Amino acid sequence: PVLVVDFGAQYAQLIARRVREANVYSELVPHSMPVADMLAKDPAAIILSGGPASVYEEGAPTIDAAIFDAGVPVLGICYGFQVMAHVLGGDVDKAALGEYGKTLAVIDAPEGMLEDSPREQDVWMSHGVAVKQAPAGFEVLAHTEGAPVAAMADPSRRLYGVQWHPEVKHTPLGQDLISRFLHECAGIGDNWDSTSIIEDQVRAIREKVGDAQVICGLSGGVDSAVAAALVHKAIGEQLTCVFVDHGLLRKGEVEQVKHDFVEATGIKLIAVDAADDFLDALSGVSDPETKRKIIGEKFIRTFEKAQRQVIEMAGAEGKEVKFLVQGTLYPDVVESGGGDGASNIKSHHNVGGLPDDLDFELIEPLRTLFKDEVRAIGTELGLPEEIVWRQPFPGPGLGIRIVGEITRERLDVLREADAIVREELTKAGLDRDIWQCPVVLLADVHSVGVQGDERTYGSPIVLRPVSSEDAMTADWSRLPYDVLATISTRITNECRQINRVVLDCTSKPPATIEWE
Ligand code: XMP
Repeated sequence: PVLVVDFGAQYAQLIARRVREANVYSELVPHSMPVADMLAKDPAAIILSGGPASVYEEGAPTIDAAIFDAGVPVLGICYGFQVMAHVLGGDVDKAALGEYGKTLAVIDAPEGMLEDSPREQDVWMSHGVAVKQAPAGFEVLAHTEGAPVAAMADPSRRLYGVQWHPEVKHTPLGQDLISRFLHECAGIGDNWDSTSIIEDQVRAIREKVGDAQVICGLSGGVDSAVAAALVHKAIGEQLTCVFVDHGLLRKGEVEQVKHDFVEATGIKLIAVDAADDFLDALSGVSDPETKRKIIGEKFIRTFEKAQRQVIEMAGAEGKEVKFLVQGTLYPDVVESGGGDGASNIKSHHNVGGLPDDLDFELIEPLRTLFKDEVRAIGTELGLPEEIVWRQPFPGPGLGIRIVGEITRERLDVLREADAIVREELTKAGLDRDIWQCPVVLLADVHSVGVQGDERTYGSPIVLRPVSSEDAMTADWSRLPYDVLATISTRITNECRQINRVVLDCTSKPPATIEWE
């Protein structure tokens, strides 16, 4: 693999994704991993990520110089570049001019990772520290006003560094730089694409499962659908999907999943109507964490019951279901601290916390993948666009989009409002421009309105459209005013007791995407 050494979470994930976009397999490792352990993974190249620290501060994360003597090609990016320069004896100090955002870089030597690169180009910078002099043996490839050494290379040792962020889309030629480093400087061939991922997984799943029975909890989302399709390709009829209707789904969702999914895949599906069960257990509860716990617990119980049905359907009486498929993704693994000791940013919340205490072995075929890769695989497996491009929807469903107690009445109102929003966004062609748009009912908030000459005292609906690459950070989407106007008019006209529509214009952080 290409190892991406993490000096600050977000940058590293993005770099790992860009490496894969260049058709090369990448893995994230924390900077605290001993260099010997990194080398034991036999890396084809190593990339040192950016990060928030300053190299000369006490306690700043660094790396053992041995990494630069191992004969493995290394690319340092931003902070990683400064670490490389610092460790190898260059001069790294406070910049005379900090550069944040779009910056003009001048390429002094268009070679190696910058071969054929235009002499002047826009790059994305974020630094208050600069490399003032490159270490011995390095050639300076580029500079900016605030960075005398903005890119450097020592091709004899295959060591490279760049001050700007080639991994962000705001650096238009960034992907080109990463690709040249991988393919030309480090000499790595293509080894990562949807076809090879599918083949590898199919083989691994067959080997693991043997002739056992497998179930998969289908949430209606992309991840579980693709995971199911992949497992189905591997073991066919040994797989049964279970779809739990917990009464917190959106309008038309049950029918859509039953129809689209079964139609497209031919996978056996058991749909369990557990709405009454869930809603009774949730009655009177308004605390978000309590809601989540109850929903998670109920999922487990519903699943246990469904198991018997699965066995019957498979005609495998006397046997047990041995495996459970989950659509866990690589960011979940990394964020949960499972990725080789990366720090725990937040616990992975899967579909309402599926069976931890159940006697299943897990199959997680998407465990090394990012969302965009999952979508590519789904497409290659022949899943319809409506499934592959579905926006994320949380396992606990509308239950965490009613601020206050969950009642059937409130669910009906929210379901209606949500359907209007989805319909109008689709009509406006905005589905792929936004990551998702939670619609939230502030059930306990009341405000005065006037409708049909009468005073009303209703609740507001919040629109929460966001754009994001991975849901770890997000910005609020600037929806066109006329689309907002149509949505607002329709919701207040068509949804009982809603007399106000408001827009959530907060990024993440500080807010999360969902309200609960
Ligand atoms: P937050 O609210 O943490 O959401 O910014 C990040 C992304 O995760 C989704 N989400 C969930 N998905 N179970 C899920 O399967 C959950 O409990 C859950 N909570 C939040 C959310 O919709 C967003 O895409």
